[in-house]
Amino acid sequence: MKRKLAAGNWKMNGTASSLAELEALVSLHTAPSVDILICPPATLIAQAVGLCANSPIMIGAQDCHAAASGAHTGDISAPMLADVGAGAVILGHSERREDHNETSDLVAQKAVAAHAAGLIAVVCLGESLAQREGARTLDVITDQLSASLPDGTTGANTVIAYEPIWAIGTGLTPSLAQIGEVHDFIRSRLSERFGGQAAEDFRLLYGGSVKPENAAEIFATSNVDGALVGGASLKSADFSSIIKALE
Ligand code: G3P
Repeated sequence: MKRKLAAGNWKMNGTASSLAELEALVSLHTAPSVDILICPPATLIAQAVGLCANSPIMIGAQDCHAAASGAHTGDISAPMLADVGAGAVILGHSERREDHNETSDLVAQKAVAAHAAGLIAVVCLGESLAQREGARTLDVITDQLSASLPDGTTGANTVIAYEPIWAIGTGLTPSLAQIGEVHDFIRSRLSERFGGQAAEDFRLLYGGSVKPENAAEIFATSNVDGALVGGASLKSADFSSIIKALE
């Protein structure tokens, strides 16, 4: 039985003092019935892994390079992340697609690197407001999904996160029907590519302004297996409420 997943993306937030929030989360969730992943900035990964040493909470990264090593100043490779104890890496977040011109092809190369290092790739997809208003959402999802997932992708080594760009950090969320439509669509595309049974193994997360107040209804939506949470993952009390809504 596939376990649901509550994932927190701290983005470029947090210094050593922020680890108090993670410490609180560790003590609040000693035996969760869902998987919990926290992706702090790279500077905090090692300390976060140490804090979670005796906890079921997994620590992940927010990006990796497609190469294992080499002359790439400022970048961090998947084997380096695995070496420091990370278990997962977010790839293709819209902020990286936008700020760093990341393409779906590059995301797929990074996913290959992540898989080779034994990391779970959390691959993000999502449409802009103009694409949503132009009724192009499902086309965008089709393109991103097919190009961002390399051969060898499975529900064990990959999680898909649907994050409409216009819902990220805005307080806006799609209607539950819109979330369900996209998640059902992603599941059916996965089924076409990988087969029906294999498609069921994937966890499909919703991301974009998930908060304690809206988590339960989002989690009750068709084919939503958890959430990728930004702002509300920075405070242990808020993220803990979201975890409980998923349990
Ligand atoms: O990756 C999570 C994210 O983009 C959603 O951010 O702050 O809207 O929960 P937020």
